[in-house]
Amino acid sequence: MSARSELRFPEGFVWGAATAAYQIEGAATEDGRGPSIWDTFSRTPGRVFQGHTGDVACDHYHRYADDVALMADLGLRAYRFSVAWPRIRPDGTGPVNPRGLDFYDRLTDALLQRGIDPIVTLYHWDLPQSLQDTGGWTSRDTAAHLADYAVAVHSRLGDRIRTWTTLNEPWCSAYLGYGNGLHAPGERDPGAAFRAVHHLLLGHGLAARALRAAGAEVVGITLNPADVRPADPHSAADAAAVRLVDGLHNRIFLDPLTGAGYPADVLEHVSRMVEPDFIRDGDEKTIAAPIDLLGVNFYAPTYVAGRAGAAGGSAWPGTEGSVEFLPPVGPLTDMGWMIEPASLTRLLERIATDYPGLPLIITENGAAFPDKAGEEGPDGTGWVADSDRVAYLDGHLRAAHAAIARGVDLRGYLVWSFLDNFEWAEGYRKRFGIVHVDYLTQRRTPKESARWYQEVIARNGL
Ligand code: FCB
Repeated sequence: MSARSELRFPEGFVWGAATAAYQIEGAATEDGRGPSIWDTFSRTPGRVFQGHTGDVACDHYHRYADDVALMADLGLRAYRFSVAWPRIRPDGTGPVNPRGLDFYDRLTDALLQRGIDPIVTLYHWDLPQSLQDTGGWTSRDTAAHLADYAVAVHSRLGDRIRTWTTLNEPWCSAYLGYGNGLHAPGERDPGAAFRAVHHLLLGHGLAARALRAAGAEVVGITLNPADVRPADPHSAADAAAVRLVDGLHNRIFLDPLTGAGYPADVLEHVSRMVEPDFIRDGDEKTIAAPIDLLGVNFYAPTYVAGRAGAAGGSAWPGTEGSVEFLPPVGPLTDMGWMIEPASLTRLLERIATDYPGLPLIITENGAAFPDKAGEEGPDGTGWVADSDRVAYLDGHLRAAHAAIARGVDLRGYLVWSFLDNFEWAEGYRKRFGIVHVDYLTQRRTPKESARWYQEVIARNGL
């Protein structure tokens, strides 16, 4: 064996996979589930590829037992799933729907019976539609409702689930949901996007505090921090562009979460678009509720240049006229995303340096490729060859290992995703799973990458 294949991860390193409710569950109207902003958005013509919806998705709501058995077969030690708020409180604020909680109760027991550690995300983008009708994340009340909902879920599952994360990627919820409209609810207003950033963070803080008071053992949040790089490392204009994008993408979340409050340069930038009167006294203290774990979702690097008159990026409000986002350089994934594993090492080291003392876990990493289900694999069962995905995962695990070797406190790795699923505005046409899903038959076929990952887990390394 070559030296390349002898990397070992620390003892107790957590190996698993991740999914999210709307992307896999289906059963959109069952057992009292109310509508979410993604039900509304996916039904709005032109928003999602070919009008795909999460109505059926992977039918995981009915197939969860077989899915958990497959996870166990692959040797997963942890499974990150999200709870659908509209199953628990169908109208966002009203009475708790016990049948919604029953599903996650059954799922949790099934996982624990197979020795798989459940990692919960409370909010992975499926806001109850009735809360959107009263302003969604632009409304301060939504933050308090998140905390109430968190407590309702914890009171049923808190005796069995150790790890609780509040939000998944508030950057997407705010900037794609309210800034450029690519995600639900599809609003296009920079001021609304910044309001949403603040209320998401406030909701996180209130929920984190409430979960802690209720006895939750590990409390965290998942971000999608960016490794923002200059086109030319010697250009002052490019360095300024990096600083601006880093502020809007990373520091606007990480600084207040870790007790430093909003960065002054970011607040100044925001004030050019909206009066930040939605930030009230005491909010930054609430947002800084202590956390035990930071989830990092990582896919691709971000390269920028500073140029007068540049188009900017619609997902970073106020970058128009000064920032050029460089087109990705191949090889690319099926999302058109650049593949640069070293970017993950840099990002993890940067977070560990600038925000010390915060244990990290990679809550998502993976790649879409246009897989085809083949005939038969080596063992006579179905087979999907996806060596491109194996190479992506291998490269990023090596990058994660390099960060650990340099002292980063990285506790685990969860591949995105366990199953092919509803990839938001892209519908079902992008496949991220290590398990292939035939959407006509709901047949699951572990891909080559799933078998490869099974061995990685068994060896605790590469
Ligand atoms: C992340 C999302 C996740 C999935 C991946 C590809 O931004 O959290 O649900 O769509 O991207």
